Amino acid sequence: MKILVIGSGGREHAIVKKLLESPKAEKVYCAPGNGGIALDAECVNISAMDIEKVVAFSKENAIDLVFVAPDDPLAAGMVDALEKEGIMAFGPRANAAIIEASKVFSKNLMKKYGIPTAGYEVFSDSKEAIEFIKNNDTYPVVVKADGLALGKGVIIAEDFEMAKDAVNSIMEDKIFGASGSNIVIEEFLTGPEVSVLAFTDGKAMVPMVSSKDHKRALDGNKGLNTGGMGTISPNPFYTDEIAKECMETIFLPTMEAMNKEGRTFKGCLYFGLMLTPKGPKVIEYNSRFGDPETQVVLPRLKTDFVDVITAVCNETLSDLEVEWYGGACACVVMASGGYPGSYKKGIEITGLNEKGNVEGAVVYHAGTALKDNKLLTNGGRVLGVTAKAETLSEALEKAYAAVKKIHFDGVHYRTDIGK
Ligand code: AMP
Ligand code: GLY
Repeated sequence: MKILVIGSGGREHAIVKKLLESPKAEKVYCAPGNGGIALDAECVNISAMDIEKVVAFSKENAIDLVFVAPDDPLAAGMVDALEKEGIMAFGPRANAAIIEASKVFSKNLMKKYGIPTAGYEVFSDSKEAIEFIKNNDTYPVVVKADGLALGKGVIIAEDFEMAKDAVNSIMEDKIFGASGSNIVIEEFLTGPEVSVLAFTDGKAMVPMVSSKDHKRALDGNKGLNTGGMGTISPNPFYTDEIAKECMETIFLPTMEAMNKEGRTFKGCLYFGLMLTPKGPKVIEYNSRFGDPETQVVLPRLKTDFVDVITAVCNETLSDLEVEWYGGACACVVMASGGYPGSYKKGIEITGLNEKGNVEGAVVYHAGTALKDNKLLTNGGRVLGVTAKAETLSEALEKAYAAVKKIHFDGVHYRTDIGK
């Protein structure tokens, strides 16, 4: 098969590398890709949001399968456009991608179908929202923009003033643009967080091995929220018993709810869960693979990845047994100094070999550029240094040993991933 992957981050690099393990992948392209991805696949200079060009390229190059990895082209209907032209595409159609693209939609879905989540209210008027928080006496309270906001649309407010400022900056100052026309004000939940990605074709629901993200920029879960500074798999808090409960109370009910709404979800459905004292609850849904969760989950997939994704597209997932390797996997993100705030680009990365890798680990490139055979930093999250081993502590040891071999000026990474 000729496969085109859409996107340009560490997640896409992990997807490309996994596809290349399959004897069925004759050729893998990535649009637009990045410096590190270019060492494995043929990068195509088309933006991840350019639906017209992606469709045209796929037709011209007889692409058999397009793997749409990021949330925004999914929400914009890239899969719909490809299917209309008879091109197989992995990922939900726009009417199902809304499960991530609108928090108002996903909260109302959960309420309607009794899927456990934080209590909430929806507002389209900032004055009404502020009136509501005036009468609220439990803090923190969580304020969320309805739409996509690069993972930054969630504000945990410690008191009334902070909650009011959050409402005003989202709804009046429009810091997230149109994504903030509506907001959700939500009950604050506590407990360990778990990410579970699941393959689903609307008929079968096949959860992948669990993982744990580390969202804050600094050690000890301090600092600003980021796209994710590192991940481990499995998530030690996610027991078999909890997995069974999640399947019954969350995963299958979500699949069925989407079917009933006429919005069958096909692709990778990401459950962001919190294991609260009152049981597992949904914090958020994503309509795609997580980043950097993918970097620790896909290396553990034993079944041919091409077989799994074509089964999802063809709605034959229930005929396939999806198998996983035991052991553990850890990913440490090496970021640019200043991230998630402003940072410099174009800094030379040393310590990587000609394949963009180091011995003892796999390096997924998130934000790199290739120039005159040199790898340069080109984003906030630069590399995801990933290792697999029998135990989590060995995987972490290997990943951190590899991190120490790599350098670029200003590099910043957390030293407590998985701890
Ligand atoms: P999100 O961008 O939706 O993944 O949210 C970012 C982070 O905010 C989550 O990973 C949680 O740590 C936190 N969060 C979101 N909603 C809640 C909630 N209702 N209670 C507690 N923490 C939350
Ligand atoms: N790592 C969180 C996400 O992909 O949304």
